[in-house]
Amino acid sequence: MSRMKFNLFLMLMLVALSACNKKDANTGAADPVSPVAGSGKMLDFVTTQDSKPLVIDAALFDTPAAKEFMTTGKNTYVGNPEAIAKGKKIFQLYSCTQCHGPEAKGQVGPGLTGPDFRYPKDATNKGMFETVWHGTNGGMGAKGIGLMDPTDPKNGITPDELLKVISWIRSMSKITGNE
Ligand code: HEC
Repeated sequence: MSRMKFNLFLMLMLVALSACNKKDANTGAADPVSPVAGSGKMLDFVTTQDSKPLVIDAALFDTPAAKEFMTTGKNTYVGNPEAIAKGKKIFQLYSCTQCHGPEAKGQVGPGLTGPDFRYPKDATNKGMFETVWHGTNGGMGAKGIGLMDPTDPKNGITPDELLKVISWIRSMSKITGNE
């Protein structure tokens, strides 16, 4: 690391630390996530196809809910009526409806409300996120690919949108995925 970069790094760490102290002083609660430059460390996402590392640009996690999910795997939209209503719309917008049916009970593709899943990891919000983000071996492409222009990385569902979709799916399930 160059000297300038290192100084910048130190400065960022100091800013991050002071921000944490402030938070602690206000809430009295310690931050549960080990902070890295203020944003928290990203979970190890893996593909549903073969459990290989799944790299997702951290900058795409651009809302408080998406940031929380990125570091803890918790979907804070579950149980939030506004997010659930949005999620239902997004499910239609990205054509999920065409294969999974308007109520996600199954059509060409399987029902998504569980409790049994083709991929047992889909009982967790991290698992379901990975399945939709990167697709499956058995008939579902990665988000965007086949649905939208796959050559444009900005195209397709965003992490925040996907979390809202999952909150809608969970609103019809017996599980929250945050268990
Ligand atoms: C072209 C049809 C098609 C579209 C569009 C599609 N899916 Fe799927 N989906 C499938 C099929 C087929 C499977 C089963 C794949 C398998 O068995 O590997 C599946 C599997 C899944 C699973 C895993 C279910 C389980 O039981 O583990 C989830 C979650 C899912 N889809 C969510 C979505 C979401 C959210 C969207 C919209 C962004 C979407 N799908 C769009 C066809 C589709």
